[in-house]
Amino acid sequence: MNTNINRRSFLKTTATASAALAMPVISRAADAGKPALLGGTPAHKGGWTSWPQWREEWEPKMLEVYRSRKWFRLSGPHVPEFEKAWAEMLGAKKALGVASGTTSLIVGLHVMDVDAGDEVIVSPYTFIATYNAILANAALPVFADTDPATLTMDPKSIESRITERTRAIMPVHIYGMPCDMDPINAIAKKHKLAVVEDACQAWLGEYKGRKCGTLGDVGGFSFQESKHIPAGEGGAITSMSEDIIDRCNAYHNCGRSCGNFKGTGSFSRGMNYRMTQFQAMLLLQQFNKLKEQTAIRRANADHLSANLGKIPGITPIRLPENSRPAWHLYPFIYNAEQFNGLARDKFMAALRAEGVPCSSPYREQYYDGLLDEAINSRGYKRLWSADRLKAYRESFKDLKGNKQACETMVAISQNMLLADRSDMDQILEAIRKIQAHSAALAKKA
Ligand SMILES: Cc1ncc(COP(=O)(O)O)c(C=O)c1O
Repeated sequence: MNTNINRRSFLKTTATASAALAMPVISRAADAGKPALLGGTPAHKGGWTSWPQWREEWEPKMLEVYRSRKWFRLSGPHVPEFEKAWAEMLGAKKALGVASGTTSLIVGLHVMDVDAGDEVIVSPYTFIATYNAILANAALPVFADTDPATLTMDPKSIESRITERTRAIMPVHIYGMPCDMDPINAIAKKHKLAVVEDACQAWLGEYKGRKCGTLGDVGGFSFQESKHIPAGEGGAITSMSEDIIDRCNAYHNCGRSCGNFKGTGSFSRGMNYRMTQFQAMLLLQQFNKLKEQTAIRRANADHLSANLGKIPGITPIRLPENSRPAWHLYPFIYNAEQFNGLARDKFMAALRAEGVPCSSPYREQYYDGLLDEAINSRGYKRLWSADRLKAYRESFKDLKGNKQACETMVAISQNMLLADRSDMDQILEAIRKIQAHSAALAKKA
């Protein structure tokens, strides 16, 4: 099995994959402590909650939009209703609904004045859309290193990457785990840089009492299908500044002036990144579900973290002080040495055989070709010197923390955190079994 399976396809397959493993099992005392791969009984039987979810009670409101014939953002009331409610729930001054998480980040960077030839310091440990949002603004994604203990941007690695072209810092609250924003904001302030938060996986994530997406100048969210509050596609931008959201609104609406942003008096530069009334209504239906499920995910994640740390070779992720993640995935660090050298891929195969789907989503994707394509393009060669682009390409090898993070993390998906406490105990039991039999599993072909 490809261990680098795409996170979205992983989520879609978790329910069915584990159901397939749920063969009727006759309890045999001798098998009780054995891993499934060595002939024992899987620790978890039955599937996991499927995703996305729908509720019958949402249907009248969805039908209302359909029958209203007002589907376009500017013809109906629901996008502004969604924006007001999203801003209130996050404690943001204002929010703007947009077409996707990617477009939320493209717009956020544009309004913070990231322009062709600028540089943005960003976390490499993220979904590729984060890189692309910077490239879409003809800017260069310059990677801070990842702290392998937190999986987020290591604030200590930022300042050495700042050049006279740096315009913004883009922290990513990966898997819904807040970045350590105080030092990041302090560096941004010192060097007069904007902070654009990629909160695409961090709905209701909290850092020191404030929600992700309200901690920098502007934040972007995704409501794509795998997300905790999905609308097929969709996104939002949040800010504590009304003026910033007015500028975002203008840019996402073909450059039409908005509120305090008068632009050129006619059209300014802009795109069509508008949200539809259907997306807004579907999102509005899910606010209570998001709050309830976030509490369940947190309780189950806390239970896992409290117990996983007791298993030699498994380390829960370190979180910033006084923070509450959204847990889009639940990751932990795997140390093969403490498992008799059992390679991570083999560990994950053994865990899947226990009925516990898992993955290791991000690899060192700066070597995957996207950035080579960008820096070898005519445009980038015009915008940067050959020396700068060469040094940029060579600097990827310095991302030692990120390499370690990519090589050692294992994750289960958010839908699994919606199961019962007994299911969490079965995940723990599965890992304990694998640890106890790791020498035999390591020898198995
Ligand atoms: C961290 C991160 N950034 C950006 C995006 C882009 O969001 P979208 O797929 O809605 O364009 C995603 C979505 O998967 C993401 O996880």
